[in-house]
Amino acid sequence: MPFIELKDVYKSFGENHVLRGINLSVEKGESLVILGKSGIGKSVTLLILTRLLPLDRGKIFVNGIDLTKLSEDELMPIRKKISYVFQSGALFDSLTVYENIAFPMVGENFDEDEIERKAFEIMNLLEISDYWNMYPDEISGGTKKVVSIGRALAAEPDCILYDEPTTGIDPYSAKKLSEVIRKINLEMGITSILVTHDMRCAKIVADKIAFLHEGKIYFHDTFNAFVESNLPALVEFKTSLPYMAEYLRKV
Ligand SMILES: Nc1ncnc2c1ncn2[C@@H]1O[C@H](COP(=O)(O)OP(=O)(O)OP(=O)(O)O)[C@@H](O)[C@H]1O
Ligand SMILES: [Mg+2]
Repeated sequence: MPFIELKDVYKSFGENHVLRGINLSVEKGESLVILGKSGIGKSVTLLILTRLLPLDRGKIFVNGIDLTKLSEDELMPIRKKISYVFQSGALFDSLTVYENIAFPMVGENFDEDEIERKAFEIMNLLEISDYWNMYPDEISGGTKKVVSIGRALAAEPDCILYDEPTTGIDPYSAKKLSEVIRKINLEMGITSILVTHDMRCAKIVADKIAFLHEGKIYFHDTFNAFVESNLPALVEFKTSLPYMAEYLRKV
């Protein structure tokens, strides 16, 4: 049984028929990268996965449970296990790095020592403990993204959804961040579903690539197969990308 499965998922906004029969499955521990042109429905797909956006038709299964049959209350424990890292990072500006990371644990069944220990464990893993008492305004954009990933980790998720995590940060920090995301996936066994336009990030992170085109999953295979594929929509997409020539040489 796949960990997450979308079956024939449809989603329109008025006359804009964005998703037209999405079928996709993700295994436990897998790292999937979703690619596709701007406006094609990648972010919508991530939001639909935990029904943060309602779907029009189709089914979503997590561990075999049909999410379309659950009430909002019943969805809560599932949403807790599938953390979402927003593009903006969405940190609390009035809280320090440490407090931002500790936030999901407050009010859960942890005592203060445990919260502190776990928060520092996460900060050490992500190499951000030096910033523990700084506020979001005082750290770089790249570090903010790492902190928001730390906050997602504090919820002890089975899966993390990332929407364009490397957008807006310099190439060096983007590469480091991609490595952190891969490390979380491999070392902690956390399933990862990531949307990006950044091919360096995709290459570091992906076990599999899912390419969204005309409302469907047009291609679903490894990064190398993606690079080598001559499917027309993939060729068009790849030739439009910066850095792709470099990858075609290297892979
Ligand atoms: N809440 C909404 N209401 C109306 N239309 C929406 C809404 N959310 C998304 N859309 C539309 O759905 C389509 C897909 O949007 P989505 O944000 O998923 O694209 P994307 O593939 O993530 O693009 P990008 O790479 O630019 O982030 C777009 O045409 C967008 O305008
Ligand atoms: Mg998007």
